[in-house]
Parts: sequence; structure tokens; C-alpha cells
Amino acid sequence: LGAQALQQISEAQNLEALEALRVGLLGKSGSISALLKTLGGMSPEERQTTGPKIHALREGVTNALADKKAALESAALEAKLAAETVDLTLPAPEAPRGSVHPVSQVMDELAEIFADLGFAVATGPEIEDDWHNFTALNMPESHPARAMHDTFYIDKAASGYETEQDMVLRTHTSPVQIRAMLAAGGNKPLRIIAPGRVYRSDSDATHTPMFHQVEGLVIGKDITLAHLKWTLETMLKAFFERDDIVLRLRPSYFPFTEPSVEVDTGYSYVDGRRVVGGSGDDAGHSWMELLGSGMVNAHVLRAGGYDPAEWQGFAFGVGVDRLAMLKYGMNDLRAFFDGDARWLGHYGFSG
Ligand code: PHE
Repeated sequence: LGAQALQQISEAQNLEALEALRVGLLGKSGSISALLKTLGGMSPEERQTTGPKIHALREGVTNALADKKAALESAALEAKLAAETVDLTLPAPEAPRGSVHPVSQVMDELAEIFADLGFAVATGPEIEDDWHNFTALNMPESHPARAMHDTFYIDKAASGYETEQDMVLRTHTSPVQIRAMLAAGGNKPLRIIAPGRVYRSDSDATHTPMFHQVEGLVIGKDITLAHLKWTLETMLKAFFERDDIVLRLRPSYFPFTEPSVEVDTGYSYVDGRRVVGGSGDDAGHSWMELLGSGMVNAHVLRAGGYDPAEWQGFAFGVGVDRLAMLKYGMNDLRAFFDGDARWLGHYGFSG
């Protein structure tokens, strides 16, 4: 039995086979266990001669099982290590890489372009009070222009705001004009842009409840509409990277500017995409509205702490999402906020 058992143990191919052998030999009803049970029925003399042999057999088999088990385990580990070896010469798999969102990209580009023109970046809160968002911008309570902004109001009781004023999600970046003027103290020239999120309760293919604007504000002692036109032309040429940008200034109305002008730019269709450039009056071209602007209204200068007898300025507000769509040929505004990496990738915005 001993020699046969040791032979089988040494030939066991794997841990399962070895365990089966162990059960067959040393288990409750194993053959060696059965031998041990026969000791009870032996005479003392018999037991004295046979007992040590059976115990030696059990010890030999036990040791052989343990040795074999260790050998099989280390072989299994070796095999596993060999199988999992990393081949450092293989090219690494390409991991998807994130990128700057087109909206952020455009805001960064505009900040850079305006920095070259001497503009600093100013910011304000997205949860704005009624005074900064409306009243200081020459839209007192019950002003009809307020109705043009589909305003989100904050539930003050629920939000815990301790203020007499209504709080709103800012409907435009224009309140930053007021904040920048007040911060400047009403006695020095200003040149700022204010990029950021704005909110209106409006949603369809061309409107999202949250979108982005860049506000511009210049205050000085001899600022005219000509400065506004030159600044916008220079900015748009740099942004669209072409010299043939033609602007058309149209009289318009905003409560916070006087006079107010809407600025159109010429464009044409190339491969079914709107491409900015040329005059809207050129053959094959049309005008599209790009932004609102004007000379800062005297009421607004006063609200910002500037004396309109001494200071003038111009302001403009441009939709960033709109500019991004034009520059990159994107046609669905909503896709901007879906966070779909495939859409971003399609326009070259992710790895
Ligand atoms: N605030 C205006 C809007 O959201 C844009 C604008 C800004 C117009 C500054 C004139 C001057 O539509």
C-alpha cells in the first residue's frame, strides 16, 4: 500500500487529483484510516509490531502529500506568472483622452484676444440679485423689457437667502458691468470682458436654459461708437482668423445702452455650413445677427458710480455657444450640453 500510495502521490497532476488521493488514504473512510482502525482489534503483541508500521506509513504518506502539494502550488504560481508577463516592447493601448469643451475653448480664445487689446477678465455671481440684473441696468420693476428675459427666480424661503430683493439666475452677463464699475470706484477708465453662464427659462433646438455670454465694457473720457465698431471688427477677425469680416450696425433697443446697436455679420454657405466672411450684400451672402451692443446708458453709468457728464463707454454682449457653433460648424446647440464624447470627438475635441 505504501509504495503504491507514494507512487500515485508523486504522479498527481494537479491539486484536485492530490486532494482526491488524500481523501482516499487519510480521509474518514480512507485506506490508511481503515488500517489504523484495525489496531483496536489486535492483541498487544501484534499491535506492538504492526502499530509502528502503520503510523510510519501514515507519516510517510502525510509528508509526501504535503511535499507534493507545495510543489504543485509553486508550479501553478510559476505558470501564472509566466502567463501574466508584461511585454514591455508592445505599444501601450491608447487611453481615451479628455479635452477642453468647445465653449471653454471659445471663452479662452476670446479672453486671449481681448487681453491683447488691454481688456481684463471680470466675474460676477450666477445667482444675482434683482438690482444688479435689472434695476441698475435701467430696468426698474415693471419695466416691460424684463418680460423679454424668461427669468428663473430663486425660492428665497427654500434657499435661505436673507435679502429683501428677489434673487435670480442672472439672465445675462450685463450685471457684471455694474459690479466692475462699482469696484473701480467711478473714477478710472475700464476695459473688461466678463465671460460666463447665463440662464433663461427657454428650451428648443436653438435655446438652452443655460448658455454662455461674453460681456464687454469700456469706460473712458472720449469713447465713441467708432471704438465699439473697431473693437468688434478686430475681435471677430482674430476669432474667425480671416480679414474679410464685414459688420453691419443696426439701430436697436436695450434699456442699458443708448444708442443701442445690433451687430450683423456677412456670411455664406460653404458645403452646407454657414461660414462667416464678406458683406451680407455680396452675391450669395446674407447677414446674420451676431450680438447686441451700444453706448452705456447714462442711468447705468450713474448706477455704477460714474458721472455721465465726464465719462462715456460702450458695452456689448455676445453668445459664446453661437460663436462656437459658427466657428466649428456645429448645428445643434443642445449637443453642447449632452456630454457625449462621440460628438466632441467628431468635431476634433477629444482623443
Ligand atoms: N445683455 C444683452 C443680452 O443679453 C446683450 C447686450 C449687452 C446688449 C451689452 C447691449 C450691451 O441680450
